[in-house]
Amino acid sequence: MPKLTVEGVGTFEVPAGKRLVNALVDECGIDQLHACGGVARCTTCRVEFVAGEPTRMTSAEKDVLAAKGLAGQKGLRLSCQIACDGDMTVRATSRLAGSGRKDCGHRPGDAIEPPPEWA
Ligand code: FES
Repeated sequence: MPKLTVEGVGTFEVPAGKRLVNALVDECGIDQLHACGGVARCTTCRVEFVAGEPTRMTSAEKDVLAAKGLAGQKGLRLSCQIACDGDMTVRATSRLAGSGRKDCGHRPGDAIEPPPEWA
């Protein structure tokens, strides 16, 4: 099983292929925001990769990062658009605590949405 490390929180084993956003919530206990429900619209599921950043990116992630002016920021990726296919280390920088939001957003489905096309 891949190991997911959240800086300052710990290292957790996660089921291979699980969506990163759901692993952050379920295995790591992070109050990770996912306001749009994991469909590449909001960017609140963003994390900062320290290690193990996937080389490929969905077209949906690429497009929304560009639309929000976030493209090209080192290590910044959308956890709803990434599957846990290997060991990863991230900083959880977009959390409910301190956000002023009433909740994290409805739970993302088990599969990456929209169905991934790779940029
Ligand atoms: S872009 Fe909204 S949850 Fe990922």
